[in-house]
Amino acid sequence: MTAEILRQIVASATAAPSVHNVQPARWRIESADLVLLEDTKRRLAVGDPRGNDAAISLGAAAEGAVIAASGFGLRAHVTRLSGDDRSGLRPVARLVFSPGASPDPLLAVLGKRASWRGGFQPPSAQDHAAACALAGEDRTIITDPAAIAAAAALYDRASYAIMRGGAFRAELRHWMRLNRSHPRWSRDGLNAEAMRLSRIEAIGAGAVLGPLFAPLAALRLAPALLAEAKGFANAAALVLFHRAASEDPFESGRAFHRLWLEVDAGGLGGNVLAALADDPDAAASLCRTHAIPPRRRLVSALRIGRRDGAPFARARLPLTEVLVR
Ligand SMILES: Cc1cc2nc3c(=O)[nH]c(=O)nc-3n(C[C@H](O)[C@H](O)[C@H](O)COP(=O)(O)O)c2cc1C
Repeated sequence: MTAEILRQIVASATAAPSVHNVQPARWRIESADLVLLEDTKRRLAVGDPRGNDAAISLGAAAEGAVIAASGFGLRAHVTRLSGDDRSGLRPVARLVFSPGASPDPLLAVLGKRASWRGGFQPPSAQDHAAACALAGEDRTIITDPAAIAAAAALYDRASYAIMRGGAFRAELRHWMRLNRSHPRWSRDGLNAEAMRLSRIEAIGAGAVLGPLFAPLAALRLAPALLAEAKGFANAAALVLFHRAASEDPFESGRAFHRLWLEVDAGGLGGNVLAALADDPDAAASLCRTHAIPPRRRLVSALRIGRRDGAPFARARLPLTEVLVR
């Protein structure tokens, strides 16, 4: 085990998804271990006051490191840490490595997985088969077009209810990079390319979520402008990801990252629909309709399909900022 291998593991783990791409994970090399820390300054005070999404994001980062370590033949043992937030860094987990791992089958897609917020190609029989192959005890795969359309309507309602909050929109806009000249375009947050917005659409999105929201809402035009029907068209499936209600969201985040990597390994792309899980009415309705047992929690949802467009560069912080002393 060398520090260089640990650095490479951390570099691969930065590909993990995180809410609004805030990238809360920081890593410290402590002799032969890696310590995962949360940069608490990057918490979403409005969108994630209880730190649920931060914990999912940190779990996803930890799982990224576990998968990356397997490429070096290393098995990673993850133990949770508790401790005080020292100058904005909160200890989350320790990863201890031992030899003897074979490469994780998801290693090949770890650096390729990305949110796909563009349109999908009409699903082929192969795409449907890839979607159905994802079925498992913690995910429900919905392929019926009428059920997807019903969930899309539910999503638009849930998403609009969240977007109506001015403080939520302000926080979201803070993490949006609508123009390439934004100094943090390639570093973090949601840039227009990742959101699949043209220059004009990006200007429109900035205005609708900003100064135009109130007048458009008063004219009842805002819901239609924010609706995402286009994103659901041609989706091969909707994936409902549910875990034991009592589970620590950090563990849910580890499993969520694996599920998303499986989507990409199947040749499909996915877009998170957090509003479906975050809105209690939407989540309850989906659980009822799709027979998700009561002691399960809808953690997240993804719409998945075959990407209709080219891949793009991911925005990530450099390793020098993610590795701390
Ligand atoms: C807890 C959590 C919640 C998320 N919620 C949403 C969401 O509601 N809408 C969305 O488009 N992406 C959502 N994402 C995806 C992130 O925005 C995405 O992972 C991040 O921008 C990094 O980009 P990447 O997935 O392409 O690596 C979420 C991710 C996580 C971990």
